[in-house]
Amino acid sequence: MQSYFKVEGGNKLTGSIEINGAKNSILALLIASSMTNQVVTIEDVQNIKDVRSLIKKIKKLNSTIIINDNSFRKTIILDNKNLKYRDLFMDEISEFRASYYFIGAMIGRYKKCNLLLPGGCFLGPRPIDLHLKGFEELGCTIIEKEENGKTKLFIDTKDGLHGSDIFLDFPSVGATINIMLAATLAEGTTTIENAAKEPEIIDVATMLTSMGAIIKGAGTNVITISGVKKLNGCFHQTIPDRIEAGTYIMYGAVLGENLIINNIIPEHLEGLISKLTKMGVNLKIGDDYIKIINRKKEFKGVPITTGVYPSFPTDLQQVYVTLLTQCYGTTNVTETIFPDRFRHCEYLNEMGANIKVNSGEYLSKATVDGFSNLVGKDVMATDLRAGAALIFAGLIADGTTTIKNINHVLRGYDNIVEKLTLVGAKIELCEGE
Ligand code: UD1
Repeated sequence: MQSYFKVEGGNKLTGSIEINGAKNSILALLIASSMTNQVVTIEDVQNIKDVRSLIKKIKKLNSTIIINDNSFRKTIILDNKNLKYRDLFMDEISEFRASYYFIGAMIGRYKKCNLLLPGGCFLGPRPIDLHLKGFEELGCTIIEKEENGKTKLFIDTKDGLHGSDIFLDFPSVGATINIMLAATLAEGTTTIENAAKEPEIIDVATMLTSMGAIIKGAGTNVITISGVKKLNGCFHQTIPDRIEAGTYIMYGAVLGENLIINNIIPEHLEGLISKLTKMGVNLKIGDDYIKIINRKKEFKGVPITTGVYPSFPTDLQQVYVTLLTQCYGTTNVTETIFPDRFRHCEYLNEMGANIKVNSGEYLSKATVDGFSNLVGKDVMATDLRAGAALIFAGLIADGTTTIKNINHVLRGYDNIVEKLTLVGAKIELCEGE
């Protein structure tokens, strides 16, 4: 039996939506907790599939985990004093991409890490060469073996990790965090140049610093890490999920009336807010909330080009394309981070959108002809944010939309059905064919 969403369009969204801790931080933070033998408490962890499956994996390493569930907010207490090294060759390990953070975390504490190469959302080829190059520069040897169509990595550092000057050819989020994790327990000083500047990197650096790491410059393009011998336990409050927030803000731009998106850091959303303001969306920006004052007016399509932070995030591009179907004019969307990230457009077109996609190897473009009348159809979530884009289309469309393959969505959006239902949406999680 496969789960699917059934969405009825045309309802206004009003009330408030609480945003949870950032998924992309939490996955790294949970894994980073395995770098100490003391207790780590992480506040505001999303109740999503990726987190649940990661917790299962960390438990298998002999970690004791207590989850305090307080309606929409979870606190996780990880006690890793009995944590044992294990090869990570389980199939589930390749299920989500962020499992590569086990390399950075384990190589510091155990001097080795063998794991199955991580998978994740299908967004075209997603190599981890920059991570591996960084580990080599810190003193690791890496052997790759193909077995039964899967790739196993054997990573070892016999003489321990030593600090190094590492230049990233591209400011990759994953490589920056992963190298930072490893460098924390290396001997000497590591400099990461051309580092990514995403807020999630600052969040991970903040937790590591509370654990006793010495990190300077997180959030700039040069991060300096002075290695320490061991890390302590800590309490950490995760930053809010800017992608979850941005998703609901865009839903609200078309469907909201006095819709408040709470528990956010508006500065993290500047790439999106500047575009929505140019479009003419009526927003009130508070210290930790954004209120969408009234629903659909005549919005002007505003072009975007995705880029590294603080540019427009690739993770919000797909939902933005759905928004553009409701704006006037013909608008260009340029995807520079994951060129394959336009697979939702085929389904939006089936629902009545008018989008042309021009795919390239390093860069792809979509041209959206706005003011489309969307109608409910049976569609397929090809990846996490494509699912969010299709739910948005379903909430706008006339009639009923069913969205299959929603495992992707459940991987990344905490309580999405409950949160949307509370503000007036008609969306159900159904089981069946
Ligand atoms: C992270 C986020 C993802 C987001 C992306 C960009 C997590 C778990 N996921 O993914 O939601 O969409 O940042 O903001 O945090 N690249 C290489 N070699 C590498 C690493 C990356 O060529 O070793 C390329 C990728 O193929 C991609 C680009 O660099 O084209 C950006 O990737 P990266 O910033 O690493 O994204 P992720 O960390 O995978």
